Amino acid sequence: MTTPPAPAGTIEPPALTQARISAEIAAARDDYARSIAAGAPVRPHPDRDYAPYRSSTLRHPRHPLTPMAADPEDVELSGPVFGVTDITDLDHDLTRQHRGEPQGERITVTGRVLDRSGRPVRGQLVEIWQANASGRYAHLRDQHPAPLDPHFTGVGRCLTDDQGTYSFVTVKPGAYPWRNHDNAWRPAHIHFSLFGSAFTQRLITQMYFPGDPLFAYDPILQSVTDDDARGRLVAAYDHDLSTPEWSLGYRWDIVLDGPSATWTEEGR
Ligand SMILES: [Fe+2]
Repeated sequence: MTTPPAPAGTIEPPALTQARISAEIAAARDDYARSIAAGAPVRPHPDRDYAPYRSSTLRHPRHPLTPMAADPEDVELSGPVFGVTDITDLDHDLTRQHRGEPQGERITVTGRVLDRSGRPVRGQLVEIWQANASGRYAHLRDQHPAPLDPHFTGVGRCLTDDQGTYSFVTVKPGAYPWRNHDNAWRPAHIHFSLFGSAFTQRLITQMYFPGDPLFAYDPILQSVTDDDARGRLVAAYDHDLSTPEWSLGYRWDIVLDGPSATWTEEGR
């Protein structure tokens, strides 16, 4: 197992096993199914105190969000600090940010950012960050023993075009362990940020890859208890987006609002 033995003389707390986390995930899903059967409205957003996500139980927000003051000067302070000219063509290609190419399976990820009526959201700053192909982030706090890749930072950005389309070239991220419970692993995912027109509108979410065997074990993905809402976090493999001899293509649309909204971390 992954946990090293405790020093002699200490009493080890009982391991928080995957079986226990999985049982809690199942119980939460059953509770949700019962509430829907009883006529409760669909809840596409997870509860902030979702118990199987142990890492969040001491740090999730316990109070409503504080609205920014209506003073236009204050809004200016929280506005974007980028301009269209700050985004270069290289920023959307995470495989060309260093002298050499990163290890891993080259992929393209593209999709549209849409409002609740299906209209494109144009000129939207879309930022992504992700682990490398081995499941390691280029970040000091990530110390798990998988290799760093000197040719991969894992950060990219682009602006949506007139159709609301974003596009990235990257490598498929690996699964990685985390310390939510014993033998906890995150499914492969890419973090997405949509900036909005001011910092207070920023939305953050995660995209997953179809068919990942870790879905059922992951309390972050499973915290979205509604099946349809959870399914909207999974990209589709699109063979027409794959480039011969070059890359595999995935498509993932982001809906900002309404009944088909993509889950975001602020639960709006
Ligand atoms: Fe992550």
